[in-house]
Amino acid sequence: MSTSNATPEPTAGVSPAQVAFFHENGFLAIGSITTPEELARLREIYDRLFSQRAGRESGDQFDLAGADEEGKAASLPQILSPSRYAPELLQSQYYSNARHIAAQLLGAGASFQGEHAIFKPARTGAPTPWHQDEAYWNPGLQYNALSVWMPLQEATLENGCLQFVPGSHRWEIVEHRSIGGDVRVHGLETVEPVDSSQAVPCPLPPGGATFHLNRTLHYAGPNRSEIPRRAYILGFGLPPQPRGDQRAFAWNDKKQTARDERARAAQQT
Ligand code: NI
Repeated sequence: MSTSNATPEPTAGVSPAQVAFFHENGFLAIGSITTPEELARLREIYDRLFSQRAGRESGDQFDLAGADEEGKAASLPQILSPSRYAPELLQSQYYSNARHIAAQLLGAGASFQGEHAIFKPARTGAPTPWHQDEAYWNPGLQYNALSVWMPLQEATLENGCLQFVPGSHRWEIVEHRSIGGDVRVHGLETVEPVDSSQAVPCPLPPGGATFHLNRTLHYAGPNRSEIPRRAYILGFGLPPQPRGDQRAFAWNDKKQTARDERARAAQQT
């Protein structure tokens, strides 16, 4: 991360064999996407945003896996668009490398489409149930997009590394619902249980990353470790195209979240 506004040149990339693996399986893990020095700086920014509850009032910070009531500890705190509160996040080597690799994986037309941060508290952090990211998005559009998931410390089976079902990127969007069937919860899960014997866990060293497509089924376990599991996720994609059909994602229309209430209230002031 430089002090100027310039984004650094990319310093990491993927090989043709890794590009082929990604398109065959719908995911890819790499060992290094940033430096230990930058990771330490990002961790400071990240912890500050969560401890200051950045974005709470505007609806950008909320509990992904719970009903998000005031005064109750969140089981899976999330911040949407954290760079709104810390613009330097997008001047990072991580961002530069992620954008470069996204273009290698999707084509030169891939552009930045958003970011979020998911903080999984030590010992109590809830699982992130099986889902496809596209289930959160606009059902009227056709996507060709990926998410880059970088832990800000080691990611292990014990603290909730990502797991993927290989080949599920070729599936349609399966039926989802709010986690536990509770429409107050923003987070989604598949209605049918996923056969986790097919899942490939992707533990990562600090500064490593995974890439997955918009339909790839993925999951992260609870955090059973003694330290928080922090993840910072960047999204890139080709421009979404209108679909000619009447696809609907009823699970999003049914939601009644405190987060949406706060966002509406913030827009009225
Ligand atoms: Ni996801």
